[in-house]
Amino acid sequence: MGKPKKRIGVLTGGGDCPGLNAVIRAIVKAAQNDYGMEVIGFKDGYEGLILNRYQEISSKDVSGVLARGGTILGTSNRADPFNYPVLEGDDYVYLDRSSQATRNFEALGLDALIAIGGDGTMAASAGLVSKGLPIVGVPKTIDNDLVGTDVTFGFDSAVVTATEAIDKIHTTAQSHHRVMIVEVMGRYAGWLALYAGVAGGGDIILMPEFPYDIDGVCDAVRNRNAQGKTFSIVVVGEGARPVGGEMVVSRKIKTSPDAIRLGGISHQVAAQIEGLTNIECRVTILGHLLRGGSPSAFDRILATRFGIAAVHLAAENKFGHLVVLSHGVMDSLPLEEVAGKLRLVTVDDPVVKTALSLGLCLGNPEDTSFEEFYAELAGKQAGREP
Ligand code: F6P
Repeated sequence: MGKPKKRIGVLTGGGDCPGLNAVIRAIVKAAQNDYGMEVIGFKDGYEGLILNRYQEISSKDVSGVLARGGTILGTSNRADPFNYPVLEGDDYVYLDRSSQATRNFEALGLDALIAIGGDGTMAASAGLVSKGLPIVGVPKTIDNDLVGTDVTFGFDSAVVTATEAIDKIHTTAQSHHRVMIVEVMGRYAGWLALYAGVAGGGDIILMPEFPYDIDGVCDAVRNRNAQGKTFSIVVVGEGARPVGGEMVVSRKIKTSPDAIRLGGISHQVAAQIEGLTNIECRVTILGHLLRGGSPSAFDRILATRFGIAAVHLAAENKFGHLVVLSHGVMDSLPLEEVAGKLRLVTVDDPVVKTALSLGLCLGNPEDTSFEEFYAELAGKQAGREP
């Protein structure tokens, strides 16, 4: 009698993004072609593992999904196995369902679980690894804020969508001589704003990492007008805030591991610019549009490479690791090294330098260089810490 076939599970957790189906497809194909493994998919992220909701996935199930956005497995950003919300009466109670998840995993006779997700999914995965579950992580998010990997899949597609939007905003900005504020997602990281701002030819980019000086922003707008450019495009990350001000919280979702949802700062930026310059402003918030649609060619390739690398790790029993792209090469890092950490834009980032060389305003006052202003601000903030 031959050895029983290995079985691996896969799930997609957290906010969706283009490329999730490309990873699932690659996992199923590599598992079958390279190792003769069976694959089962849990529905709606860790919710499926906790509630034992799953489906077998074979090659025919992933046929035609490469170019499809979203996830064929569904996802959830509320199903933390260690803090699982259960409605009791009118309110939620939070239960530790990690042992239930472990029991379900064992009952299915699984040899490994591939968890595709962002920081929340990786934090939950690291917790389950410490309870003995053999998990391999795959880094996903349009925010590109996971440490240890050059890039996450989903980011490039979101940049492409935002860039197309900014291109379209340009023509109407030009016709009406307005300041157009385009807000992009990204949570506490400014990667989307920075890349879409540079790719879309934005004039001012405001990122959460660098609180903006509104006078500096208005001077940049006035300077463009003085040069005969009678419109400006301001690309704003949803986590941007003025110096001394706060991020704008659009809602709080108490059942979500990270309850805060950001959004709406662009209305504040527009009101301030209009008030101070007397130039008409308009706001476009791209929001969830950035998570939709077909993955870019770059993301299809990256997602496919990640999926295959994750299957190889599972076959080698190298668990508790996240597959990463390191200097263009597939590699892996221990989950506990990356879970709970954010990769943010830094002053010396090459694309920040690119934006500065192009003469873009990144939120500093006209009479102080970007580097000087943020070094000083960081110093002041450090001085305030106990
Ligand atoms: O993390 C991905 C992301 O799209 C963020 O950019 C955004 O802040 C958040 O998710 C929105 O979450 P939700 O889908 O719960 O509104």
